[in-house]
Amino acid sequence: MVQPVAPQGVGQTAIAVARFRAAETRRPDRLFADPLAEQFVAAAPPIRRGAGGRGAGWRGLLRYLRPGNLAHYRAMPHFIAVRTRFFDDFVRTAAQTCDQVVILAAGLDTRAFRLDLPDRTRVFEIDLPEVLAFKQGVVAREGTKPAAGRTQVPIDLREDWPSALVEAGFQPGRPTAWTAEGLLVYLTEADCEQLIGRISGLSAPGSRLALGHQDRSTVARQKANPLAGAAQTLYKSGLSERPDVWLGRHGWQATARRAADYGADYGRPLNADVGQGWLVTAERP
Ligand SMILES: C[S@@+](CC[C@H](N)C(=O)[O-])C[C@H]1O[C@@H](n2cnc3c(N)ncnc32)[C@H](O)[C@@H]1O
Repeated sequence: MVQPVAPQGVGQTAIAVARFRAAETRRPDRLFADPLAEQFVAAAPPIRRGAGGRGAGWRGLLRYLRPGNLAHYRAMPHFIAVRTRFFDDFVRTAAQTCDQVVILAAGLDTRAFRLDLPDRTRVFEIDLPEVLAFKQGVVAREGTKPAAGRTQVPIDLREDWPSALVEAGFQPGRPTAWTAEGLLVYLTEADCEQLIGRISGLSAPGSRLALGHQDRSTVARQKANPLAGAAQTLYKSGLSERPDVWLGRHGWQATARRAADYGADYGRPLNADVGQGWLVTAERP
């Protein structure tokens, strides 16, 4: 069997998330179980951390061992665990009324495999071709079958993905649950505007949407932290507005809560560094 080829560039960030999910799955107090995450990690080479990646070496790295930087490093696994659980809960609930789920920038998301969704649910996973090819290679090798109907749509989200989605069987007239987890920060503000315009244009009444968002100040701080992962060096501008206000402008009724509030709900406290992140749910009236 052909060895799956790990993605480069922004696609690597999907592997970083899988690494956190594999670690969470091993915890006795885990917020979810994602057995495939370990298989993705095993098939991918290790990712170089920010400081090492910038050629700082051990001496350079030691200079950055400040409490604030370390706090981020320690908190990130818990943030990803809380965020994953939030999106799991959203998809489970939304699938009760929406029989299409579109996972934007799906990366190594395995919700089509591990969530108990209604039989009629169709899950569309959109991401870059190299990311979905790697994912499919590992899934095929493991012989894992999805619980829900699953279709991959390999395309860059800055290209004409609505046409590709419709060609793959998506029905614009039916209510849809959309997720954008760990995506907006890898887009420019103009890309975000184009994305929400297209999502809104494809969303029948009753559609639902969940997204994650970091304020610009948080993005800037994390980007400057050499102890952050390689993913943070790829951050772009993302949104400048509060995400619920932004969605409101685009015709969605949105509720935004801080990740720390969800962490408290789930019994997994988050520190201020990552707890500031927004987790947003919205409905199309
Ligand atoms: C941090 S990962 C999150 C993956 C997934 N949502 C999860 O939580 O496991 C970011 C993902 O965004 C994808 N991505 C970034 N920019 C993209 C673009 N322009 N088009 C399609 N996918 C993109 C990357 O390939 C990667 O899989």
